[in-house]
Amino acid sequence: MRSKIVETGSYLPEKILTNKDLEKFVDTSDEWITQRTGIKVRHIVAKDEATSDLAYKAALDALTRADVDPKEIDSIIVATVAPDMPLPATALFVQEKLGATNAFGFDINAACSGFMYGLSIADSYIRSNIAKKVLVIGAEVLTSMIEWQERSTSVIFGDGAACVLLDATENENEGMLGIKLHSDGRYTDLMIVPAPGSRRPCSEEVAKSKDRYVKMKGNETFKMAVRHIIDVSKEVLDDVGMTFEDIDIMVSHQANRRIMESVGRRAGLSEDKVVITIDKHANTAAASIPLALDWANRNGKIKKGDVVLLNSFGASLTWSAGVIKW
Ligand code: ACO
Repeated sequence: MRSKIVETGSYLPEKILTNKDLEKFVDTSDEWITQRTGIKVRHIVAKDEATSDLAYKAALDALTRADVDPKEIDSIIVATVAPDMPLPATALFVQEKLGATNAFGFDINAACSGFMYGLSIADSYIRSNIAKKVLVIGAEVLTSMIEWQERSTSVIFGDGAACVLLDATENENEGMLGIKLHSDGRYTDLMIVPAPGSRRPCSEEVAKSKDRYVKMKGNETFKMAVRHIIDVSKEVLDDVGMTFEDIDIMVSHQANRRIMESVGRRAGLSEDKVVITIDKHANTAAASIPLALDWANRNGKIKKGDVVLLNSFGASLTWSAGVIKW
């Protein structure tokens, strides 16, 4: 028994902010953002939209496309760094909106690797018969933790959600072949939102301070990203008896176009095998891999039988890779 992605879904908020729009209130330029990151636009939530609203719409999209009743779902896993609120889990709001009354749900936080961590949990549940049909959702409202005047972070992030529906399969020629996860707590300062939390609960001082916004040492993070992504990809390919030559398509966390192109070059993958959606979505943390996967799936970039390499790198630090036979 193994797990298989049977459908994908996504939702992006209607409002679009272009690099040109940002130029009007941030000390930056379309040229700098395009050249240094590959981003052209990002989607931004409306005032009344929260992470669970985006996650629900992405899940409904996947379920509708798969023609699966929400009551058939056994588990809902939401990967996010921007939950609706500290308690309860965002997954429970999604469960309620879907009417998925037979599911158990919870959230996980592994930053930009959150979707991959969620995928590994779902795969384990399916292999061990704890659940059969599982929704793994990456959903983020990163703009809720951005200081717009801080150009090192504000130009990079966007909001959005995407979902995969996993089911059990007896067919040994399809599905999730392997997955590897890593983290390194020595580098927590590379990307951090210092407050509020149990270390510094919400207070007037925290509310007024800039510590409630994302801080990132982008350049230092960048330097580690390519090496770690290549290493973990080799590790999982080794595990499943494959090499980069066996890969039909690579879907990476969309943090920076230059990182993905560099990984593609080092892996010897031609440009058409590297899925790039950062121009359309920006960096949406845990939502970025499923958004790119959904885009590739809808646009016929992935065919049945293709070997798909997924990989991620995020705060602070988490990284992972997985191999799927589509
Ligand atoms: N507009 C214009 N100029 C800018 C901007 C901006 N938005 N941001 C920085 N600059 C300037 C800097 O001030 C600096 O100027 P200086 O040379 O005069 O001092 C210059 O551009 C270069 O700055 P760097 O920070 O070195 O720029 P870099 O090329 O590294 O690009 C970036 C920054 C895009 C953040 C890149 O480092 C990156 O993508 N890092 C990886 C991010 C990542 O992978 N994060 C983890 C995943 S995200 C997650 O976990 C949620």
